[in-house]
Amino acid sequence: MSSASIASATATNFAADNPSNSLLQLEAFDIPSSRNVHGNAFPLGLRPTASTENPSIEDVTAHIRELADQGIIQSLLNKQPDKRLDGVILFRGLSVTDAAAFSAFTESFKFPKHYQEIGLAGKRSIVAGNVKTANEEPPDVKFYYHTEYGRSADYPDILFFYSEIVPEQGLRSSFSACRSGQTPILSSVELCDRLEKDLPQFYHDLTTKGIIGRQYFPAPNTDEAKTIGWNWKDSYGFDIQPNDSLDVQHSKVASVLASKLQAKAEWQSNGALHVLQTLPAIRRVKSTNKPTFFNGFAGVYGRGRDNGALKPPYRGADGGVHLPTTYGDGSEIPIGYLERLLEIQDEIGFLTPWQPGDVALIDNQTAQHARTPWVGKRSLLVSLWKGHERLGAM
Ligand SMILES: [Fe+2]
Repeated sequence: MSSASIASATATNFAADNPSNSLLQLEAFDIPSSRNVHGNAFPLGLRPTASTENPSIEDVTAHIRELADQGIIQSLLNKQPDKRLDGVILFRGLSVTDAAAFSAFTESFKFPKHYQEIGLAGKRSIVAGNVKTANEEPPDVKFYYHTEYGRSADYPDILFFYSEIVPEQGLRSSFSACRSGQTPILSSVELCDRLEKDLPQFYHDLTTKGIIGRQYFPAPNTDEAKTIGWNWKDSYGFDIQPNDSLDVQHSKVASVLASKLQAKAEWQSNGALHVLQTLPAIRRVKSTNKPTFFNGFAGVYGRGRDNGALKPPYRGADGGVHLPTTYGDGSEIPIGYLERLLEIQDEIGFLTPWQPGDVALIDNQTAQHARTPWVGKRSLLVSLWKGHERLGAM
């Protein structure tokens, strides 16, 4: 099926669901080179119909609230067999002109609650309401595919990305451009299909053993904390009081890790912290009973490799410490599997062709995302939410 006919088939389904008394009607549109994943467009593009073009943001949020009240948004994301999406909707032309409008747009979906980040290991600033910068690392830094907080027992279910400013090269570029800032996305369900087919032993090992993710957090007030931009106190020290001894600080951090993330603290001789998270690498989408690749260890490996940090002490050219993920029994994940995993992710990935004002709704349970470098000025904002359904065990 061509992507155009996928889009029109989905449009027929979607139009039938649109509330009839709204000032806005949404229709599916064809996104060039979008992928067909399990019979659906990936991503699904939605925009106003010709007769309701250029809606006000008030009309947009009212319409989305109606869709949410009627359970239509939820049914799209709950992956019912006839409407199931593998996780990404690209909204275009909905008058989302700034961070405040983006915040209002995300609120209108009526997802249960904002996701509170615990253990931030990146640079993000609050812009408005529940809206933050996506990441403030330099534009030449590539991120590999990952599930947002896939290393954690506490993760967001829904991510919104808002393309506020598209870099000039992004607007001109084709899909083959690698410095365009276009956001790579893939279906985590399709990735499981491919791993089971191409690397059955790896898939079996991941499913049966799980993984242990490890992260390094430098001590506060150290040069490396300044270089990296965060430390264990910032990330986990919410309960620490000014006069707490170091031992008390450590026990408070360990308690946050254990109670909120089911994670373990290992203190290092230089005052740094290793956080160990023993988790499944593959989980199950409850409403479809399908396995989904839910983790970020391919990116941990890729970034460690690119920074020459695959051997102890895992210190990279970027100044960071890139602790390797192992299987859940502590054994190494073979590099051959990791390299092939990165290749497969690229083979099934799609680069989101941002236009100013676009918003992508990413179902974090069934889609992974990444970051391509860019040239020039770009602004990508995020909003993270808990959804209606949590993942199950395999
Ligand atoms: Fe991310």
